[in-house]
Amino acid sequence: MCGIVAYNGSRDAYGVIINGLKRLEYRGYDSAGICLVDNDVMLYKQKGKVSDLEKHIGTRPTGGTIGIGHTRWATHGEPNNENAHPHASMNGKFIIIHNGIIENYGHLKTKLERRGYRFESDTDTEILVNLIEYIYQKGNITAEIAVRLALTKVVGAYGIVVICRDEPDTLIAARKGSPLVIGVGEKEYFVASDATPIVEFTNSVIFLNDNDVAIIKKNELSLKTIMNEALEPRIQTLDLDLEEIEKNGFDHFMLKEIFEQPRSIGDTFRGRISADHKSIHLGGLFEVLPRLVKAKRIIIIGCGTSWHAALVGEYLLEEFARISVEVEYASEFRYRNPIIHKDDIIIAISQSGETADTLAAIRLAHEAGAMVLGICNVVGSSIPRETDAGVYTHAGPEIGVASTKAFTAQVTVLTLMAMLLGRERNNITQQRYELLISEMVAVPLKIEKILESNEKIKEISNIFKDATNFLYLGRGYFFPVALEGALKLKEISYIHAEGYPAAEMKHGPIALIDKNMPVVVIAPHDNSYDKVVSNVQEVKARKGIVIAIVTEGDEVIKSMADHVIEIPKASEIVETLLAVIPLQLLAYHIALLRGCNVDQPRNLAKSVTVE
Ligand code: G6P
Repeated sequence: MCGIVAYNGSRDAYGVIINGLKRLEYRGYDSAGICLVDNDVMLYKQKGKVSDLEKHIGTRPTGGTIGIGHTRWATHGEPNNENAHPHASMNGKFIIIHNGIIENYGHLKTKLERRGYRFESDTDTEILVNLIEYIYQKGNITAEIAVRLALTKVVGAYGIVVICRDEPDTLIAARKGSPLVIGVGEKEYFVASDATPIVEFTNSVIFLNDNDVAIIKKNELSLKTIMNEALEPRIQTLDLDLEEIEKNGFDHFMLKEIFEQPRSIGDTFRGRISADHKSIHLGGLFEVLPRLVKAKRIIIIGCGTSWHAALVGEYLLEEFARISVEVEYASEFRYRNPIIHKDDIIIAISQSGETADTLAAIRLAHEAGAMVLGICNVVGSSIPRETDAGVYTHAGPEIGVASTKAFTAQVTVLTLMAMLLGRERNNITQQRYELLISEMVAVPLKIEKILESNEKIKEISNIFKDATNFLYLGRGYFFPVALEGALKLKEISYIHAEGYPAAEMKHGPIALIDKNMPVVVIAPHDNSYDKVVSNVQEVKARKGIVIAIVTEGDEVIKSMADHVIEIPKASEIVETLLAVIPLQLLAYHIALLRGCNVDQPRNLAKSVTVE
């Protein structure tokens, strides 16, 4: 939610910041703004996207080598020019960009109003910048002290960068709850919500921790806590290529990311499956494996698509490891006083590693004494740093707001875990283990094959682009796939879509079926196939239109369905990875044909750092 970027060095700050904002736009795109410091302070902001900001600014400003920029996902106050960041304080001393929520802003606002402060926006951020100014002017202190003192009075989450007019050569950055990364160049520093705006300039980065404050001059960076304790900056080397965050000839990031899946799944299992395909080694879990093997209960938490991956994980772990698994929405888990035993294992799944509800649920589980593992994509993000152990998904940066390759990478990790635990607990023989491993190794090639159906899926999409409702049905492993297919469609095309366990259709959704209702049935040849055949018949009997995902060579469903998309034969353990691909493409093409912005759907953001 919200992307922030800042620069202090000798380059043209405008170019660095505008390009950085474009890279961070997936975090929010309700409004954008930029503040540059030259001889004077130049502040521009505009409702809409970064391109709208550029149009509003017109002639490119020159001269400033220090500046801050923001792209917003609205929380407090509607998306308009007034609520856009950066926000300046009433007397103009401070300018701020902020990602997060100041929860006690109402209380702080009343206090400031009593002292004569007036506000132009509806945002919590404007309260914070004025609190900083008030403390600064009252105390006759440095900007850094004013920022630190103000932050001690704040309840909530923030990643901020502040400029003070009296100290125009300095940026002050601070974090609590919202991510901030500092890029360290040659006599220059970059600050951003994630590393994507930084990677073209430097691979040396410092991930700020909660309560860190960085004072950034062109030639010097000092790091301390809010309470003024000096910290030693820990510079890490980033393993990220510019190529990974560009479209590389694809029309959209989402399409690129769908087509990347043979590679991203391969990257996720490579190095974890032995060269002879006889064993699995998850380095990140090595230390905790004995405890994991003995686990009586696993609770998997996540939000959105990550929650769907968790459901697939539940089915896999219960079947192969024979460990009891519960799956919880992080937002429900954290607030419903759940029962957590000390010997429970909690697995938190998150693409971004920053989702506020998931982070809060992890803290709750830790308080209860449970061990928490993470399955995350973004290296160095908060969740991997707060969990006891974990596995990175290695899908590479996912920029499209609708998650695609992150989902399949999460399912890949869960599949490896299920196989490994199944073997370690002696639920599967070595022979079966090796067979399952070979199934996983074959997945990338099978996905390549499914991607060849892209044109066909586009044609089917054209038939259904004007539908107003869709139903997605699946049984067993394909129920979570049905949920994920429906989520993809509603996220980016704004068509109402529901995923259902196929058998549950007759307890409600069947009432919706008529000749206008497309029903996507995920029906590969598994042991519930015959039951799904009956469900297809039930839909057809009510004149519904069936789009079926079937195993190559299927004849029965093919003879009943209106449209069929084939996926290669595979073992059930990896079939979800195959079955979801056509659904991603279907959603993509329908959204595109409806003229929707597939990479940046309305109202959504990729990284949800507010609860
Ligand atoms: C947002 C994104 C989804 C994502 C969910 C959870 O809603 O748009 O794509 O699945 O957050 O995010 P996480 O980063 O924790 O996986």
